[in-house]
Amino acid sequence: MTSTPEDLATSDPEPLRARIADLLTAARTRSTALTDAVDDADLVVQHSPLMSPLVWDLAHVGSQEELWLVRDVGGREPLRPEIDGLYDAFRHSRARRVELPLLTPPEARAYVAEVRDKALDALHANPLRGRRLVEHGFAFGMIVQHEQQHDETMLATHQLRPGAPVLHAPAPPPGGPVGAREVLVPGGPFTMGTSTEPWALDNERPAHPVEVSAFWIDTHPVTNGEYAEFVEAGGYDDPRWWSEQGWAHRGEAGLVAPRFWERAQDGTWWRRRFGVHEAVPDAEPVVHVCFHEAEAFACWAGKRLPTEAEWEKAARVDPATGRSRRFPWGDEDPTPAHANLGQRHLRPAAVGAYPAGASPLGVHQLIGDVWEWTSSGWEPYPGFEVFPYPEYSQVFFGGDYRVLRGGSFGTDPAAIRGTFRNWDLPVRRQIFAGFRCARDASREDGA
Ligand code: AVJ
Ligand code: FE
Repeated sequence: MTSTPEDLATSDPEPLRARIADLLTAARTRSTALTDAVDDADLVVQHSPLMSPLVWDLAHVGSQEELWLVRDVGGREPLRPEIDGLYDAFRHSRARRVELPLLTPPEARAYVAEVRDKALDALHANPLRGRRLVEHGFAFGMIVQHEQQHDETMLATHQLRPGAPVLHAPAPPPGGPVGAREVLVPGGPFTMGTSTEPWALDNERPAHPVEVSAFWIDTHPVTNGEYAEFVEAGGYDDPRWWSEQGWAHRGEAGLVAPRFWERAQDGTWWRRRFGVHEAVPDAEPVVHVCFHEAEAFACWAGKRLPTEAEWEKAARVDPATGRSRRFPWGDEDPTPAHANLGQRHLRPAAVGAYPAGASPLGVHQLIGDVWEWTSSGWEPYPGFEVFPYPEYSQVFFGGDYRVLRGGSFGTDPAAIRGTFRNWDLPVRRQIFAGFRCARDASREDGA
């Protein structure tokens, strides 16, 4: 049996409290591992203008936890009101955070520990019902997800950091058969988003019907081997494959291959991955490509990126019943057999490595491995309501952001589901993003 937060919200809040405490601990164990992996001098360094110093992420995680769990849910006075502004992501760009009078690493560690102590007091004192913010433990679930999201961001900072490897993990399971390259998803309406998933964030709500015409979708993400064919075919030098905006960006940024790829003297591709130099593995999903590169590849391949609705339909609809499920494999929470999540491995797994995680139509690796760019912009669903604060989702709607789906090897299971929506600018490559392709179905396909 799975224990979703919903199942646990019986009249006895104790099992839900225990589950929340475990998830908070797991997130903190990960944050601690990511920050203890380097020395304190490294924690305050800016490894890339795209990223905060790691010590900022750590204290920011504590600051958000204090705001929601200690002050709001717990009803306590601010612990360190003078530092609030330093950790407000909207006050200071990532590029400038290094210049702020941030808490030092020992101060940041002490601060997050004190906040955690008080947050656990709030957890044990609160009935976890009676108010929407705490119903089913929502505020706690939101903070667990927030910390895990910053852990993934810190992992991306590690990938940008020069030097010898400091993070270690076993290799993912080997690849396996995946059948045909594409499958046909029949046309018709499906339910997108959710109104029942207790820890779904505001942008995933509400559940609503969407009509999606029949389409073909790749059974696995585009691999390094496939992507290298595009590179070798001169794909980066041919404006036919690129949007106008993408072509302009390719020129300005000097894009020639995915980020972290280097060509060796013998012409083969190598990459740097968390400090390890290795030959680019052909069978793994390509990662560290921007939206524009994904779009150009798809066009070269005679395909396109899936829309966000197509992606979610492929990931959630059970063809036997027409019902939208939580994950491609059903409603159970992800296990290590379903998907490459949670930084258990420091890389995407080869195609076909997770047969137990495939959808009923045979679409593999929708969850985990690499975030997948979609063609859709970041917009609210019909009936969207801000909850609990506009700066999580709403302030980004209507901009130049693209939706990413499915999570990566660096995404924790607590921070992913079939309805989860991520977004970023179309030029970003430091995130663990790849893509899969789709194409329209024709009348001959029985569409
Ligand atoms: C959902 C990944 C786009 O990291 O910018 C973290 C999540 N929001 N703190 C981000 C988030 C506030 C967000 N993304
Ligand atoms: Fe944040």
